Amino acid sequence: MISFPGYDDIIKKVYEEKQEHVFRFWDAIDDNKKKSLLEDLKNVNFEEINRQYLNASTEPVIDEDYGPADYIRLPRNPEESAKFAQARETGVEAIKKGRVCAFIVAGGQGSRLGYDGPKGAFPFTPIKHKSLFQVFSEKILKSSKIYGVSIPLLIMTSHANHQQTKEHFEQNKYFGLDPENVFMFQQDMIPSLTTSGKLILASQNSLFRNPNGHGGSLIALKKSGMLQKLKEKGIDLISYFQVDNPIVCAIDPVFIGFHILNNAEISSKALTKAYPQEKVGNFVIFPGKKLGIVEYSDLPEDKAYEKESDGSLHYSAGNVAIHIFSVDFISKITSDDFSLPYHLAEKKILAYNNGEPEKIDGYKFEKFVFDALPLTDKNVILETSRRNEFAPVKNKTGLDSVDSSRQLMMDMHREWLEKRGIEIPDSVAIIEISPLKALRAEDLDKDIIIPDQSEVYLD
Ligand code: UTP
Repeated sequence: MISFPGYDDIIKKVYEEKQEHVFRFWDAIDDNKKKSLLEDLKNVNFEEINRQYLNASTEPVIDEDYGPADYIRLPRNPEESAKFAQARETGVEAIKKGRVCAFIVAGGQGSRLGYDGPKGAFPFTPIKHKSLFQVFSEKILKSSKIYGVSIPLLIMTSHANHQQTKEHFEQNKYFGLDPENVFMFQQDMIPSLTTSGKLILASQNSLFRNPNGHGGSLIALKKSGMLQKLKEKGIDLISYFQVDNPIVCAIDPVFIGFHILNNAEISSKALTKAYPQEKVGNFVIFPGKKLGIVEYSDLPEDKAYEKESDGSLHYSAGNVAIHIFSVDFISKITSDDFSLPYHLAEKKILAYNNGEPEKIDGYKFEKFVFDALPLTDKNVILETSRRNEFAPVKNKTGLDSVDSSRQLMMDMHREWLEKRGIEIPDSVAIIEISPLKALRAEDLDKDIIIPDQSEVYLD
């Protein structure tokens, strides 16, 4: 057994756990590196690792005794429209009072996009090449202007992209936001494992870790001191969305209003699924009236294809990862022994095995934020329009890619102009509307003249 002054306990533990291969480069590294490896190992929760590995090697058991969850549909008649109007009023009042902040989860690795840098820094818009972070920042700026209040922006990063995210904002003067009102904090990283349950080295003296999933955001809010800060500022509502959905309505008074009127702890937006096995989570009610999500891959085929008498899908509400969280609820669930389950993803991992990086098969473990839904007593699911709110940037090309998302954003902007009766010359191929100009059709003046050219940017 190796030894190092002051670290006997952790060294013993590593051997007991049969993970001593992590000392493979022990003789080749200096004392500083030895110490940093041991510090890294000190932060490993071996009990949790063993539990995860054990769970990972068995199929997840999902109780199939569930039914579809109800959701508030987009208004179909004057009565429903009146409810939306009332919700809007309530939401506007809360925003104006400074009760709301925006929260982007941006700690993911964005491996499918393969961009060299934080996904949020990806130059996204078709004409001005604004980054995703710029798009969101301008949405917050515009909402702040509309409601006459400075809306704070929270960003969760991870070890791999925190510094670069900070620099992206600094280099761009926070895109006009007040730096004092932008809060970045990191989520936890947890060790990945080989398929046989072994820790993986990322270098001679460090373990390979991955960010612990967007579900890590709830505990990160608490651990970073952010929850406390929000309370001190009188903010009790968090508008949560993902860094990869540039057309999200970042601050939506109607959504916030429904959340408040229903005393909800978590509210979620849902889209009506386009087809039975669309790759979105399904909102369901488990026995005991607990709300939850069943992933598309776990929804049995007979349930996925089940229809209502009018031909619509029985399981029709799909999750788009847009939520309102009540600060009190997050405080409550994170106060004691709080833990969301881990989900397993089998991925290629860059391991440092034989003196150079090498791709191996491994397990990454992540928590999902929607696993907090069953912990709620009160919640709201609100339908949103796919065209106006869901354009994920996941892949380099094809489905849910930069191109498809850009196209959806342009289609939405074109629709806004048409809705306002603004003529678009045939020559116009590419349209970009700055969030500083409009967040929805109603923000556009009807007398705007669109020039007769192929690219049109409105700001
Ligand atoms: P995805 O599930 O799409 O993962 O994240 P990803 O890491 O961004 O991308 P791939 O799978 O490697 O291609 C959905 C949202 O959750 C955030 C992401 O930043 C994105 O906004 N997320 C994901 C985190 O904040 N932390 C995580 O650990 C994982």
